Amino acid sequence: MRNIKIILVFVTITFYIACGGNNKKPASESSSADGTPTEKPADVNSYDPKRGEGKFNEQNVVLGATLNTAYAEVGEKAAGVKCTSCHKMTNERLVGPGWKGVTERRTPHWIMNFITNPDPMIDKDPELQAQLELCLVRMPNQSLADEEARNILEFMRKNDGVK
Ligand code: HEC
Repeated sequence: MRNIKIILVFVTITFYIACGGNNKKPASESSSADGTPTEKPADVNSYDPKRGEGKFNEQNVVLGATLNTAYAEVGEKAAGVKCTSCHKMTNERLVGPGWKGVTERRTPHWIMNFITNPDPMIDKDPELQAQLELCLVRMPNQSLADEEARNILEFMRKNDGVK
């Protein structure tokens, strides 16, 4: 009887350790799924959910106090070609989340980083992972040029009521 108890305790501890180890794996594997080295090692703990990951930051994405209507107009056309098959302008989900309020939920540089290079952020951003669970589709990389992304951002601001 005593032996059985000892074995049970041992087995329980082994399981506990095994599961603890497994939980950590996906995080470190996600960095180089295709074997190509990423710029930085995937340190999930250093991910900044306000900024995302990429070359855009508070300094190089500067918004005007008012809407740049020329940008917004070009952005609306680009979005019509590349984005609106999955995104509505309301807060209703189509394939991806609706865009209403997105410029209030996210910082401008987060949006720029995400839409120009969604993959590494989907792997790390807790809110994107939650959306992925709802949407069941990963947002594909639409190969946006920086300028195109900036125009679409301006269109999103217009959609959120910036004048
Ligand atoms: C094939 C469908 C699809 C297309 C096309 C698409 N997206 Fe997405 N998008 C998604 C999904 C799905 C998500 C939710 C995150 C995830 O699961 O990857 C998302 C999330 C987003 C978010 C974050 C929204 C939020 O509320 O946090 C933004 C911003 C965004 N997309 C912008 C764009 C832009 C800009 C384009 C066009 C250049 C575009 N998307 C094209 C499917 C798409």
